Amino acid sequence: MLTTPSAEPAPPPVGSARRGDNADAAALLARFREVRGLSERLCKPLEVEDYVIQTMEDVSPAKWHLGHTTWFYERFILQEVVEGYRPVSEPYYYLFNSYYNAAGPMHCRPSRGLLSRPTVAEVYGYRREIDRRMAGLLAPQNRRERAPRASGGGGSSDMLRDRLILGLNHEQQHQELMVTDLKHIFSSNPLLPAYHRPEHAPPTPGTLAPQVAPPPAAWVPFEEGLRDMGRDLDGAGFCYDNETPRHRVYLRAFALASRPVSNAEYVRFVEDGGYERHELWLSAGWATVQKEGWRQPIYWFRDEPDPARPATPPGDLSDPAATRERAGASGPRWMQYTLSGPMPVDPAEPVCHLSYFEADAFARWAGGRLPTESEWEAAAAESGVAVAGNFVDAGLLHPEPMRAGGVGDSREALEGMFGDVWEWTASQYTPYPGFRALPGALGEYNGKFMCNQFVLRGGSCATSQNHTRVTYRNFFPPHARWQFTGLRLAKDL
Ligand SMILES: [Fe+2]
Repeated sequence: MLTTPSAEPAPPPVGSARRGDNADAAALLARFREVRGLSERLCKPLEVEDYVIQTMEDVSPAKWHLGHTTWFYERFILQEVVEGYRPVSEPYYYLFNSYYNAAGPMHCRPSRGLLSRPTVAEVYGYRREIDRRMAGLLAPQNRRERAPRASGGGGSSDMLRDRLILGLNHEQQHQELMVTDLKHIFSSNPLLPAYHRPEHAPPTPGTLAPQVAPPPAAWVPFEEGLRDMGRDLDGAGFCYDNETPRHRVYLRAFALASRPVSNAEYVRFVEDGGYERHELWLSAGWATVQKEGWRQPIYWFRDEPDPARPATPPGDLSDPAATRERAGASGPRWMQYTLSGPMPVDPAEPVCHLSYFEADAFARWAGGRLPTESEWEAAAAESGVAVAGNFVDAGLLHPEPMRAGGVGDSREALEGMFGDVWEWTASQYTPYPGFRALPGALGEYNGKFMCNQFVLRGGSCATSQNHTRVTYRNFFPPHARWQFTGLRLAKDL
């Protein structure tokens, strides 16, 4: 039986603070509040009914994301740092554990949408209580030489800091998942409701511009040679263990397209029979196209000729015949479901919500290929590309058009490497040479997923700007297409 969150006094001060800890702790507490606040701001447009739905196994209800990210701090920080710690609610350890076998049993992932209890209000109450306990732990006068007692403990307040920063990055990952999950949830409703209105994300002038094709892409060349890639764990700034260790790779001469592939280019692929030509697809991709009835990106559909007829939800893959009917409809425009509701497909936007299979087939059709992750990282590092672009921070939650005078305008530089859309690479998600997972339960964070997935780079319009970097490795299975995922072409020189 679920219990009501119980109040517990903040951890009492013990011992003495390290020199310099006060400023560090205050900054950490400020960042903690900032990240926690964004999760809740992203939920501001939701009605209570929106918090609970799970439309497919990969999607989690917003309520679960809010609870799980909270559990992460409780289980991996408070539980391990505070002597005699009493959980807010023991059953939450079961409900909100995602996949950490070393942390105990967990609720079945596909059944997360079956939980009407705890209520949304109770989950917010859980957040309030954990926020209070964490603030007590992080308060400068309370932050002490405390080492986690398990799961690879043995450090000091540095370990507490590292755990907290991992928890914040973890919550930022879930913020992106929450946005993409909500998009899938809303798109599965025949009413195609908007998640947010312009007052939440005002359209930019570029968004309102007449629809025009993007500037042509150019090939940006890179020389053959050895490159260093990845990170060392003792380097400055946070990174995940899967980005380590820094190591050397050999690259043949290659070129990257100056910008991501646009909707205009992808429309040509679709209308050239791209989804009907087996020779363009990997075997597993072609099988998926047949099985799922794919004929266009997941959120695309044609204008409905009859306004009295409700639109078929574009995210609904359960009816391949309906999907084919939409693709063959005589409407003049391609439409896409966005978090602001249905909108025309803007030819200048980077194409989005592609699976690896679709990105790979498009590249083959276009006479190019996907870059490897080492090519992508080397190109970004050598070009000195700043981690700047359209991130969740802008509040648009949709890729921006690549207009003249903006992204993609240069014929010599790489544009749009960060933000807007994650870029699929040709690289399987595998451990770097010399990789060692974190000790203890947190070693399950990344390492155990290094099978049957592909690496994506750059971040998207749902990623926090301070969450990504040039070495960041995102990963998804090749059929996944509900994330903000696109591609950039590469070729051999
Ligand atoms: Fe998680």
